[in-house]
This record gives sequence, C-alpha cells and structure tokens, in this order.
Amino acid sequence: MIIDLSDINPMQKQQWLQHAVAPRPVCFASTIDKEGNVNLSPFSFFNLFSSNPPIVVFSPARRVRDNTTKHTLQNVLDVPEVVINIVDYEMVQQVSLASCEFPKGTNEFIKAGFTEEAATLVKPPMVKESKVKMECKVIEVKPLGTEGGAGNLVICEVLRMHVDESILNTEGTMIDQRKLQHIARLGGDWYCKVDEHSLFHVAKPNTQLGIGIDALPDTIRNSSILTGNNLGQLANVHDYPVVDATFEDERLKNIIQYFSINPDEMDKELHRYAKELLDAGKVNEAWQVLLADS
Ligand SMILES: Cc1cc2nc3c(=O)[nH]c(=O)nc-3n(C[C@H](O)[C@H](O)[C@H](O)COP(=O)(O)O)c2cc1C
Repeated sequence: MIIDLSDINPMQKQQWLQHAVAPRPVCFASTIDKEGNVNLSPFSFFNLFSSNPPIVVFSPARRVRDNTTKHTLQNVLDVPEVVINIVDYEMVQQVSLASCEFPKGTNEFIKAGFTEEAATLVKPPMVKESKVKMECKVIEVKPLGTEGGAGNLVICEVLRMHVDESILNTEGTMIDQRKLQHIARLGGDWYCKVDEHSLFHVAKPNTQLGIGIDALPDTIRNSSILTGNNLGQLANVHDYPVVDATFEDERLKNIIQYFSINPDEMDKELHRYAKELLDAGKVNEAWQVLLADS
C-alpha cells in the first residue's frame, strides 16, 4: 500500500504517522503562564537531539480538530522555562488524565493527583512522583506551520537532571535501564511498557568494523534457516573467524557423526544449531558450528 501524504486529510495523516513512528517516549511538561499559573501536559512528540549541548525537543501541535493551540505552547512563549518529567508505568493513567483539555488556568497537578516539588533553577515545579526530571531553559520555539496538526518545536536545553536513587545501578553511577519502566505512545490508544521482558541487548558495532553480510559465504547468506538478525550478528565480527581447535561441543560432534552421509541435511542441522546459539547471543560458538560445515 502506498500513501501519499498530500492525498489524505489531516486526521488521517496524524493516524498513519503516529502508528508508524512509534513508540515515542512521553515528556510530561510542567510550565507556567505570566501570572504564575501552573500547567502540566504530556507530549509524545518528544526526543533527545543532542547531548552536548544537552537538547531535548517536544512539540505541542495545533489541534487538527479546530486549529487551536495548547496552553503549554502559550506558556513557553511567555515564560521560556519548562520541567520535563519522564513518565514511567506507575504514572501512566494519571498522565493520560492530565491530557484532558481543562480550561486555561487549571493546574493539572491537582486534577491528575501529582505533587508539586520546587525546581531549583527554573520557576515551573517538578512532578515529585516522576523518577527523572529535567530542568530546562527554552532556547527556541519553532512553528512548523499554521494549519491544524502543525507542530511547534519547543527546543529545550537541559540545565539539571534529578534522578531518583531507586533507579540507579548498584554502584550508583548510572540509571539501571531495568529499573525505570518507561512507557511510550504508539498509534491510537496503544502504549507500550519497557521492562525486563521487552528489553534486550544488541552488541554495539563500535569503531571496530564488522565484516559485513557481503563477506559471509553464500551457504550462510542464503541459508533458509538463519534470519536477517542472525546474519547481522554473524557479520558484526571484526575478523573473519577461524576454526578453534579447542572448541569442544558434544552436540556438534553428534551432528557431524549422524549426518555425515547426507551433507545437505548436515548443513541444515548445523544452521539450526547455529541459530539456537545466535538467538541465545552466543556468536563465537555459532561461528564454530558453522565453520564445521566446510
Ligand atoms: C501520552 C500523550 C501524549 C501526547 N502527545 C502530544 C503531543 O506530542 N503533541 C500534542 O500537541 N499533544 C499531545 N497530547 C495531547 C496533549 O497532552 C493535550 O492536548 C493537552 O491537553 C495539552 O494541554 P495544554 O493545552 O494544557 O497544554 C498527548 C496526550 C497524551 C495522553
């Protein structure tokens, strides 16, 4: 299916894009107006764009429905400061409640049952219940259009972070990713939760270059058993692996013995075993199994 964005209406654009560009982290923005009235609203058009300088951007859009603008936008234009509170699973229902279109001047801390905690460098208060809060200075507000659905980039410099000690690693030196259960927004009413079941590692290809999928032998590259992910793992090694004479493996021995009269079946069996090893993150072992093929 091909969708030309110029052929569909603003609501459809929003729907297609939000289902596709997902999941999006949620910024819970605390701002104040000129009179000092507090506002608290969630925005999933949000991300980190630079670490030095430390820049995050969120976007209160013009409403698709009637092209009106959000209180948060007016507030940051009047008082260019914001506290961005990171949303975790324990907060998600209250955060959603805070997104109701309460009349101007309504304090969503009160409506949604959150506790104000004074920030140290900026005037808007922090959300006490949030486990990571970022005090920010708004350095630019960039409108992206004038029609309903047009975003307004609120470009923020993070001045200070407050991190709850309960989510730190045992050394207390960094956030333990497993302890901060982020939520994120997708299309429609869908959200996802980041926890130990949804997290996984991907070995980072760093300055050491991977050999690349084009360097894999045809038998591996065209395997009917190994997946694209498996090939990616195999091709991420820095040097083309060689047979390790010290590699002892009972199952490998059995495969070679049992299938020696049928090389095609042996190939498949070795690929099946290599796949199991790769899916368990054992890249070196998988390579040894595949090298036994030659
Ligand atoms: C999880 C979540 C994410 C949202 N993300 C956005 C967003 O990125 N941009 C936007 O304009 N509105 C977004 N909304 C809707 C606003 O939160 C909502 O319009 C809010 O009432 C604006 O409040 P304000 O007028 O007090 O600023 C989101 C709502 C929820 C629940």
